[in-house]
Amino acid sequence: QVPVITIDGPSGSGKGTIAKLLAERLKYSLLDSGALYRLTALAALNRDADLSDEATLTEIAANLDIRFELRDGEVAALLEDRDVSRDIRMERVSMAASKVAAMPGVRAALLQRQRDFRRVPGLVADGRDMGTTVFPDAPVKVFLTASAEERARRRFEQLREKGVSVSLRDLLEDIRARDARDMNRAASPLAPAEDAVELDSTGVDIDGVLQTVLQLVRD
Ligand code: CDP
Repeated sequence: QVPVITIDGPSGSGKGTIAKLLAERLKYSLLDSGALYRLTALAALNRDADLSDEATLTEIAANLDIRFELRDGEVAALLEDRDVSRDIRMERVSMAASKVAAMPGVRAALLQRQRDFRRVPGLVADGRDMGTTVFPDAPVKVFLTASAEERARRRFEQLREKGVSVSLRDLLEDIRARDARDMNRAASPLAPAEDAVELDSTGVDIDGVLQTVLQLVRD
């Protein structure tokens, strides 16, 4: 069985960064499952679909024409052959993704697609339900958290580097709202798998977290 390392956790916990570094280090494939929900949302927005119509959204998710390609060391997301890596990070897409991700039909439609990322020599899967639903048999499961304040602060720094000015208070509110939505939805709510190792990255830098996860992989 091809090994999978699952990295789950809330928005802003740093799991995307850790997953990417881990995949590079181990020469494993990488699954950014959030990107699949974002691509579904973008496809729906492009079609002017009713975002509360689960049957339509499920159909869109099941028939997504997407591909991930390595371009200049970065993973590019392509929707119908167009590079939409930037588009899927837009705020309106994030909002829509969070909505469509709550639909059981959409989640079911994306399940096999996510499992298809499992290839030799291994896979690092980043998301909310990688360890609980998508790869329950993964030998290494990490649940990465950080306090809401710390996650808001990280996002604040990222945005400041990009020249975007926002208030830390608004970011904190936004993070709390997302946490509540992720944890309270009926379909695959955010929670650690029973056999996941919980890591709190509050006050720990990226390299510290990476070393801890690499140690778990070696054990
Ligand atoms: O972490 P962040 O909220 O910035 O974004 P993301 O990880 O790209 O996820 C985008 C959306 O998809 C979020 O609303 C997640 O709740 C949802 N998602 C999910 O439901 N299940 C996953 N395995 C990954 C993401």
